[in-house]
Amino acid sequence: MAPQIDPERLLSDLKTLRSFGACGNGVVRQSFCDVDMAARRWLAGRMAEAGLEARIDGVGNVIGRSPNDGRALLMGSHTDTQPRGGWLDGALGVIYALEVARALAEDRARAHLPLDIASWMDEEGSYLGCLGSASFTESMGDEEIRRAANSDGRSVADALIAVGLADQAPARLEPERHRAYLEAHIEQGPVLEAEGKLIGVVTSIVGVRTLTLTFSGQQNHAGTTPMALRRDAGDALIVLAARLREALGALAAERTVFTIGRIVFDPGADSIIPGRAEMSLQFRDGDEVLLDRMAAAVDRLMEEANRAGPVRIELAESSHLESAPMDPGLQDHLAAAAERHAPGQWMRMPSGAAHDAQIFARRVPSAMLFVPSIGGISHDFAEDTSEADIALGCQVLASAAASVLEELNRP
Ligand code: GLV
Ligand code: MN
Ligand code: MN
Repeated sequence: MAPQIDPERLLSDLKTLRSFGACGNGVVRQSFCDVDMAARRWLAGRMAEAGLEARIDGVGNVIGRSPNDGRALLMGSHTDTQPRGGWLDGALGVIYALEVARALAEDRARAHLPLDIASWMDEEGSYLGCLGSASFTESMGDEEIRRAANSDGRSVADALIAVGLADQAPARLEPERHRAYLEAHIEQGPVLEAEGKLIGVVTSIVGVRTLTLTFSGQQNHAGTTPMALRRDAGDALIVLAARLREALGALAAERTVFTIGRIVFDPGADSIIPGRAEMSLQFRDGDEVLLDRMAAAVDRLMEEANRAGPVRIELAESSHLESAPMDPGLQDHLAAAAERHAPGQWMRMPSGAAHDAQIFARRVPSAMLFVPSIGGISHDFAEDTSEADIALGCQVLASAAASVLEELNRP
């Protein structure tokens, strides 16, 4: 028999986590803010109650380490949110991991198996996307992480001092112990619902490049400055944005997406020519060569615009997440568990969203499980998943975790 999850306990913990920063059905809980830290302390308490050795490490990761020895499975996701986020993005995978740890501990035949669980800091990138998993896997240096800053210019180093974590050591992946990584997540898209499936087994995770383009012109009076004499940073942004859209559209493959998610005009007033403007540009695809071509097209158009003037444009890469295939063996464990609990109602699919699992995939075999998102909505307060689908996904994950751990620890 599979370890049995407790759906009521699972939903109750998910709802308690939502109460930290709740905003209607959604949540505002960006990394390192007061409610984020309060949620982390609550989570560490729940991990300790589940019999795990709980700590908040030197970058804010919440880690629940099993007291059991052996080849461990690591499971987790994130509890930080977008500026206006859904209640399940990340939270689902963290509370699933907690519930699976409890279900294993309550299962006599499996209580000896080592399952470590975590909430990774700042997956959503308020400071630096996947900061916590990058720190844990040492795929980024401590100094680079500490220098990363949020849109107010506050650095991770300052945030760590403010929340009292500056003197804590970062926890690290232990290659002898951590032999596999599993993460569950809401799909955040429409595919499972459209296909009438209840579980997704992720085959690969998309690569994501995020750029910040800064436009420097001359702030001036919007009535007295003739058009030919303006150095209008806002106008330069609009023109370049339209050219970028055309060029990236021409390069795009079937699953390529690109988004201008943020534009700032400074100072942003009806009667002032913007002296400064900023925009983000993000593009995603599974093919890193295509992403390189898109990055080169952005460089070329920016250089052309700089040659034409009269506004100076600068570009910085604010985040770079490489695409990652998921481990075939772990996918098969998830698929077998899905077939057991939801026969014929699961499918394999790629992920168009970024996840901590793509950071882990470089260091340790990694895989992901998806549950449906109602209406395919995510990164929005309206994000939701039915309670029945939430419970089923956790039971599938519990079965898969047990079979992975049994395989890892077979004498
Ligand atoms: C993760 O939240 C992403 O933006 O893909
Ligand atoms: Mn997420
Ligand atoms: Mn997200």
